[in-house]
Amino acid sequence: MASLNDHYLKLAGAYLFPEIDRRVGAFLERHPEAATRLIRCGIGDVTEPLPRSVIAAMHAALDEMGERSTFRGYGPPLGYSFLREAIAAGDFADHGLDISPEEIFVSDGSKSDCGAILDILGDGNRFGVPDPVYPVYVDTNVMAGNTGPRRDDGRYEGLAYLPCTADNGFVPEVPDTPLDVIYLCFPNNPTGGMITRPQLRAWVDYALRHDAIILYDVAYQAYVRDADAPRSIYEIDGARRCAMEFHSFSKSGGFTGVRCGYTVCPRELQARTRDGEPRPLHGLWARRWSTKSNSVGYVVQRGAEALFGADGRREVATLVEHYLGNATLLREGCAKRGMDVFGGTNAPYVWVRCPDGRSSWETFDWMLEEAGVIITPGVGFGQCGEGYFRISAFNTRDNVEQVVDRLGALEQLTR
Ligand code: MLT
Repeated sequence: MASLNDHYLKLAGAYLFPEIDRRVGAFLERHPEAATRLIRCGIGDVTEPLPRSVIAAMHAALDEMGERSTFRGYGPPLGYSFLREAIAAGDFADHGLDISPEEIFVSDGSKSDCGAILDILGDGNRFGVPDPVYPVYVDTNVMAGNTGPRRDDGRYEGLAYLPCTADNGFVPEVPDTPLDVIYLCFPNNPTGGMITRPQLRAWVDYALRHDAIILYDVAYQAYVRDADAPRSIYEIDGARRCAMEFHSFSKSGGFTGVRCGYTVCPRELQARTRDGEPRPLHGLWARRWSTKSNSVGYVVQRGAEALFGADGRREVATLVEHYLGNATLLREGCAKRGMDVFGGTNAPYVWVRCPDGRSSWETFDWMLEEAGVIITPGVGFGQCGEGYFRISAFNTRDNVEQVVDRLGALEQLTR
């Protein structure tokens, strides 16, 4: 009999969002009449249609695919140069950052990249993850065998958890002990928190001091509003030697269903062989992609390219304003009802302390049953998320206004 990857057996029963779906399904079986009333503010999935410029570019690309003279088969495994050049110009050169198109690797999104990166990192690395955390960072490490078993408290042996609490503004502090690979995500999922430039400087210094690598996830970069906040880790001197950056078009261009993102792997970034010899990761990352993937479809890449045109930029700005407007309403709605609210100003997520000392899952059930609103329990993102919940601002304005009204009604029910 073939053997399986035993590491998968260490994982918690289900990834967070399927578990939420399971609970919602069970609720609807008991209360089928509630189905039309439910408002989903759980998973951060966009609701607004794709930008017109993206639609036009994808239509044109599809027409090209329908003609023998312009048809395209396999594309370059690291992405078409038209898209890598548009990204290098629009996301970096225009902001005074030195990232070349050859350092950009187009993919089907950050989630895949977060798992794929572990292919080129060796055994025995000490990994640091924030807590609360985007669960993909943890689960992919479990799958790759980089952790021990899951403990009763939900944490895995062998991972270093970096607490993000109200006291540290939900920004993990640089640890006293050396780590080899650290995941950071800003604007943060799930807390909506943002890192300052001096705080990011401290992390880059730490990584350079310990020869560590920072995997810097900027999936929510388009939401940064603080003028002084860093939009990219490459704004910090020395980051090219210690950081990879993970980008997504999901939350900027509304691509959650289209699938496209990219990583940046600077040529200077190195890691050690088993024999202790430093070697660049760039060639390994390219080898990984050209062996395991044929990149993303031509039509999708033309759509992503359109996001960097003048119309595309305007349309992205409008989408982001819409979701940030929702976040403001949700923040105000929760605060008005006396809840402690965090995030939502540089991010599409609002992080709220559960009222009346409830646990995260108690609050989830309460909001589901009493308000018909699906939120994400903070504890689903880690131990430090217990006692909090996350509301996603990815929704229609009408739904968000209804959520705010229902929060008001909830207050009356609980008093
Ligand atoms: C979330 O809700 O945390 C995100 O939508 C998950 C993701 O982007 O994969």
